Formats: sequence, structure tokens, C-alpha cells
Amino acid sequence: MNPIILAIESSCDETSAAIIKNGKVQNNIIATQSVHENYGGVVPELASRAHQQNIVPVVDEALKGAGVDLKSLDAVAFTQGPGLLGALLVGSSFAKSLAQGLNIPLIGINHMQAHILAHFIEDPKPAFPFLCLTVSGGHTQIVLVRDYLDMEVIGETQDDAVGEAFDKSAKLLDLPYPGGPLIDKYAKMGNPEAFEFPDSEMQGLNFSFSGIKTSFLYFLRDQKAKDPEFIKNNMNDICASLQFSLIRMLMQKLKRASEELGIKEIAIAGGVSANSGLRNELQRLAKDKRWNVYIPAFEYCTDNAGMIAMAAHFKYLKKDFVSLDASPMPRMKF
Ligand code: KG4
Ligand code: ZN
Repeated sequence: MNPIILAIESSCDETSAAIIKNGKVQNNIIATQSVHENYGGVVPELASRAHQQNIVPVVDEALKGAGVDLKSLDAVAFTQGPGLLGALLVGSSFAKSLAQGLNIPLIGINHMQAHILAHFIEDPKPAFPFLCLTVSGGHTQIVLVRDYLDMEVIGETQDDAVGEAFDKSAKLLDLPYPGGPLIDKYAKMGNPEAFEFPDSEMQGLNFSFSGIKTSFLYFLRDQKAKDPEFIKNNMNDICASLQFSLIRMLMQKLKRASEELGIKEIAIAGGVSANSGLRNELQRLAKDKRWNVYIPAFEYCTDNAGMIAMAAHFKYLKKDFVSLDASPMPRMKF
């Protein structure tokens, strides 16, 4: 079986389409929505409208770039959830119409599962079972991955996601959305031990980022009262210290999960895995703890349809299809 599948991603603020042929991702086209930059976060209504504008040209480009015409498609896949309802509706409606028109199977994909399966797009690929730290704007999870489609969340955040912690902190620093990449950029030039931000301890393998968010808010308020130019004069050190604390919180739980389960195959996935501090720390731990660490290429870290296509390939092989009345699931679980 050598399926050709068109995959569509529209869960948040990226409209993306990709083709997968015989398990190889061919053309991963991503249209990023810049309209949210001035609002400090994704505005759902604006996201839906931008998806509507982008979806036809993005799908067209993916098909053309891969040299595939609609008639040769074996299936259409779409992100079914989790994500913003209005945004998911654009991708799912488009995928459903296409599948119905072409009379081919429809595949519904869990976005978080796809972030993990992005590891199977390129070499090196992790061996089962492995642990995946999935870190994005909406999720922070440690997932035990037993097989391509057999995954279990063994730890997760009880409040904000780590990407949200990056973005909300960036907003307090007057940086535009999404602030994560900017914090990363300034952190490279700063001292990670310049400032301390107390965080809240969580039991087991779960995370909490609300404590550090509050201590960061109070820290800035107090410093600005003493020196109105504090942020401007200390941007690099503030970003480096904050990033250092967030990475330490992630790594504490990941180390614990690895020890408890005796698993040394360690992967990261999701938008925050693009963070250079996190990547460096994982490489350091790989040596220190003898972990085999897997980090996806930048292109497959943040939201993209290549990962949806990869997940769709595995589902196609199992004939795991959804019916044409499948609806988007904003809070979809594994
Ligand atoms: O996976 P993703 O593209 O979308 C969601 O499903 O949420 O993740 C987006 C998140 C945003 O919070 C963004 O600030 C964060 O990933 N992010 C980063 C970096 N690049 C993206 N955070 C820290 N450092 C980065 N280099
Ligand atoms: Zn994502």
C-alpha cells in the first residue's frame, strides 16, 4: 500500500497543507497569520477568517509542489482537535467536502498526537517505548509513546501551558505575540542567574506555571516602581532568567519520568521545542544521563500539516477513517 494523502492543519493560527506519498512528506506549506501580533494573543474570529482566505491557495500550492493532482489522492486528513472551534471548522469543512467530492476516505487527526508523530518524518527516529515532552501554546504534557497510535499522557499542566507562560511573560515585557521566540532571542545574550522567580511545586509528573507567572508579574511591578527603565535596561537578563526557570521546571519532571519508567529514549515536540535553551539543555542531559534525545527540525516543531500527514499515513494503514459527519473536537483527548 503506497497511499497519497493530502493533510490540512487549521487548529490555531497557522493554515497549512502537506502531501504524504508512501510515508514521505513531500511538500509542507505553512501560511502564518500575522494579524494577531498586535493583540497579545490569537483572536479566534480573526483566525477563522484568515484560514478561510488561506486554505485554497495553501492546498493548491501543496498539491502543485508535490506534483499531485486531486484525482490521484487516496485520502484527505484534517486536524479534528484540540484547537479553536472556528479555526478547526474551516479545515474540517474543507477536508470533508473534498473527500466527499472525490469519494475517498477522510482521516481525523489529533493535533497533539501529530506533534509527537512529527518524529517519524525524518531520521533519526525514536524507538518504542519513548517519552515525549510535548510543549506548545496550549499544552504541556509528558507522554508515554508505546506505538505510533498508542500513547498515554502521564503528566500534564494543571493550569497554563509553558508556551502560554512564555507568551504572557513576553506581553508583560511589551513584546509582540508570539513572545516565545523573542524571549529565546534575548535570552541568548543574557545571564540566566541574574534574577530568581519562585515557582510552585507540583506533585508527581504534573506541571503548574501559574506560580511563576505571578512571581514574574510582581517582580516586574516592584522593579519598575524603583526604575521605570528597568525592563529596557535588563531585557536580556530578564529573558535569560525566566527561560532558565521555565526549562528547569520542565526538565525536573522529565528526569523524574525517565527514572520512574526506566526509559532513556526521550523526545520533545510542539512549538516550544524550537526554543534553543531547551534544545541545549536536552543535549547536555543526553550526555549526563545517557539519554537518546530526539528533537524535530524547526519546520516540524511549530504547527504544520507535515505532522498531520505523517499521523494520517499511520491511520490510513490501519484503515482508521472517520465518517463525513465527523465534527471538530476543540478539547479532543488521545
Ligand atoms: O505548537 P505551536 O506552534 O502551537 C500550538 O499548538 O500551541 O506552539 C506555539 C507556541 C507559542 O506559545 C510560541 O511562543 C512557542 O510555541 N514558541 C516558542 C519558541 N518558538 C515557538 N517558545 C519559546 N522559544 C521559542 N523559540
Ligand atoms: Zn501545536
